[in-house]
Amino acid sequence: MQRVTHPFRVDGKVALVTGAARGIGACSARLLAEAGAKVVVTDVDSDLAEQVVREIRQAGGEAMALRLDVTDEEQWQAVIAEAVRAFGGIDVLVNNAGVENMNLVEDMPLRDWRQVMSVNCDGVFLGVKHAIRAMKPGGISGRGGSIINMASICAMVALRGAGVYSAAKAAITNLTKIAAVECGQNGYGIRVNSIHPGVILTDLTRAGMEGSVRKGLFKSAAEAQAAYAGMHPIGRLGEPEDIAHAVLYLASDASRFMTGAELVVDGGFIAQ
Ligand SMILES: NC(=O)c1ccc[n+]([C@@H]2O[C@H](COP(=O)([O-])OP(=O)(O)OC[C@H]3O[C@@H](n4cnc5c(N)ncnc54)[C@H](O)[C@@H]3O)[C@@H](O)[C@H]2O)c1
Repeated sequence: MQRVTHPFRVDGKVALVTGAARGIGACSARLLAEAGAKVVVTDVDSDLAEQVVREIRQAGGEAMALRLDVTDEEQWQAVIAEAVRAFGGIDVLVNNAGVENMNLVEDMPLRDWRQVMSVNCDGVFLGVKHAIRAMKPGGISGRGGSIINMASICAMVALRGAGVYSAAKAAITNLTKIAAVECGQNGYGIRVNSIHPGVILTDLTRAGMEGSVRKGLFKSAAEAQAAYAGMHPIGRLGEPEDIAHAVLYLASDASRFMTGAELVVDGGFIAQ
């Protein structure tokens, strides 16, 4: 077995990150580039994705932006093919794109349920499916890889108002395990793991807190933020960097014996 000499380096690897225009995805893209990967920054927001690429290049890294709506299977195929053509392969997929819609189960319109399920669940399924096809022996990249699915502590605990979000994150957690088992047993050299962040301060969280207030779950955004921070024994909300480091670990060969696992990064939230 080869020694892992630089555990948190990903030199020579090509990483594709979805929802990488801002928040956890943008932070992960920057860190992966800093650690040596060529990064494909994808999002539905092309302007912001281009901005992330400019920042990576200014810092001396290599990256390109591609528009990808994760709910569109044809776009997935085209984007993976373009990544392989431009950067010579694909070694890491970070299925990070996600949306939230806070509502009580009894008030959740079916339309909203389907919209969240489509991005957070169908989107991850399509990414896993097409990454496996590309990474497996004989695929257009064909050299194995690491697939990282951004789940949440909401896959494990019940947070008031997070019904559809939790259902989607629980679904992708088990999809992760099935894909890991299938890839392992088929000898593909592909690892598949999920990351379970606690509450991380990003636009998604801010919007979720404001939504909770509108729906009467909290009196103000400040009250919601204080309530969420108080649920983390470590004493604060998370930052995108806290999760990006977990992404880098799972992308790197330091995690080479990890597959089908749930990596919880939550300031102690679910330990209580
Ligand atoms: N912020 C948190 O507290 C937290 C906690 C646990 C898990 N997560 C998960 O982490 C991931 C990133 O969250 P974030 O807080 O950085 O969110 P964010 O809202 O800041 O960023 C999400 C990105 O996804 C993109 N996106 C939305 N729909 C898309 C689609 N159909 N196709 C492609 N891109 C799309 C958005 O344009 C945006 O750039 C999500 O999967 C989220 O569920 C976040």
